[in-house]
Amino acid sequence: MFNRKNKIIIKTEEQIEQIKLAADILSRTFGVLSEKITPGVSLKQLDEIAEEFIRDNGGIPAFKDYKQSADQPPYPGTLCLSVNDEVVHGIPRDLELKDGDIISIDCGVIYNGFYADSAYTFKVGNVSPEIEMLLEATYQALLAGIEKAKHNNRIGDISYAVQSVANKHGLGIVREMVGHGVGVKLHEPPEIPNYGRRGTGRKLQENMVIAIEPMLTLGRAKIFVDNDGWTIKTRDGSIAAHYEHTVLVTKNGGVPLTSFEHIENKIKT
Ligand code: MF3
Ligand code: CO
Repeated sequence: MFNRKNKIIIKTEEQIEQIKLAADILSRTFGVLSEKITPGVSLKQLDEIAEEFIRDNGGIPAFKDYKQSADQPPYPGTLCLSVNDEVVHGIPRDLELKDGDIISIDCGVIYNGFYADSAYTFKVGNVSPEIEMLLEATYQALLAGIEKAKHNNRIGDISYAVQSVANKHGLGIVREMVGHGVGVKLHEPPEIPNYGRRGTGRKLQENMVIAIEPMLTLGRAKIFVDNDGWTIKTRDGSIAAHYEHTVLVTKNGGVPLTSFEHIENKIKT
């Protein structure tokens, strides 16, 4: 039977305009954070900076108090801050970043009731060549997925594109967590796995809005939930990266709404 709960929302032009406003605040939040990432800064400080910036700009942190399931406590922060072998959902805490770390920052913004969601992995000082490769490849996997977010393509085309880049570099693909529709809520259908087969899954249509979010590791892909009930880490202790954009599906491919391109370019050199 037709299941309403699985219906993919096609956004109206008006809704897309609102999502773009949320995405704009989110992009600029990442711009601000990118300037603060340095050895000695604490995760709590980063969280406070982000919350203040989002609220000053009329937004609401989308993750704060978010309940993933009935038996899990509400999420305590504005940001998910995941360091080194932490994959996602690291909680803001007193830990200070040090040279050679990487930190994945995941953040969502609500503006006027509409949502945008994005993640970016930053280097802290100098990192090893292997980690440089992980970051570059995970980012390229995201871009490959975005390119396939095109009218009349299928979800599997995105999944396959992400998987192909990961495989080319011998990286682990975290399978338990997936991308998703976004905009009216934080998590909407469809699910977008980071592995799959071309030409399979549901069809994409112009004006869908989706979050594509590869999570790749330098080792095996198995994960576990830490004692804090939130932080997801690699079982083998291998380093993990996570990039995510909120993406508008168009006839010519995906258009990322959350990129902070000029800043991204600066970080990557
Ligand atoms: N990381 C998730 C995503 O990008 C959302 C996290 S919600 C939180 O889809 F409550 F865990 F923060
Ligand atoms: Co997301």
